[in-house]
Amino acid sequence: MDISSNDRSAMMPNYSFPDLVPEKASGSRLWDESGKEYIDFGGGIAVTSLGHCHPILMKSMEEQSKKLWHVSNYLLSKPAKELGQKIASKSFAEKVLFSNSGNEANEAAIKLARKYYFEKGDEEKYEILSFTNSFHGRSLANITLEIQNSIKLALVRYRKDL
Ligand SMILES: Cc1ncc(COP(=O)(O)O)c(C=O)c1O
Repeated sequence: MDISSNDRSAMMPNYSFPDLVPEKASGSRLWDESGKEYIDFGGGIAVTSLGHCHPILMKSMEEQSKKLWHVSNYLLSKPAKELGQKIASKSFAEKVLFSNSGNEANEAAIKLARKYYFEKGDEEKYEILSFTNSFHGRSLANITLEIQNSIKLALVRYRKDL
């Protein structure tokens, strides 16, 4: 089957993709299918902040991929535990949550803030404030923060029985 790179018919239309189709990248450089070179100022919205295909990261991922790839969050692997400890020791926080996306991280932040006040017996402190035209992700709670163009209430309340 010949699939044209510009055929987006199989994609949900929730993003407005530009015509640029990225093919490969190295460091801060990115090339499209026609070989045109770009400087990637986006960096995957800070996800590829080490640059594309960083040799140390590539080596580490290659080595790990030959030992153990993914085991879900039901199990805690040694590298995950060590990374968690390292991050916690170098930040303000005592604990780390690994999540799959910014969306999930913001969901967790909302839940934790609500849990904190709920457990203190301050159940009415559940409002989440957001900036006008801000973006936090595409979950229901995060979309709610975005749609509201001023200080508003997020939909999901922390409940003890959930
Ligand atoms: C400020 C901010 N918060 C949250 C998100 C959502 O992250 P993700 O797309 O990884 O769910 C993004 C992604 O663009 C973001 O820029």
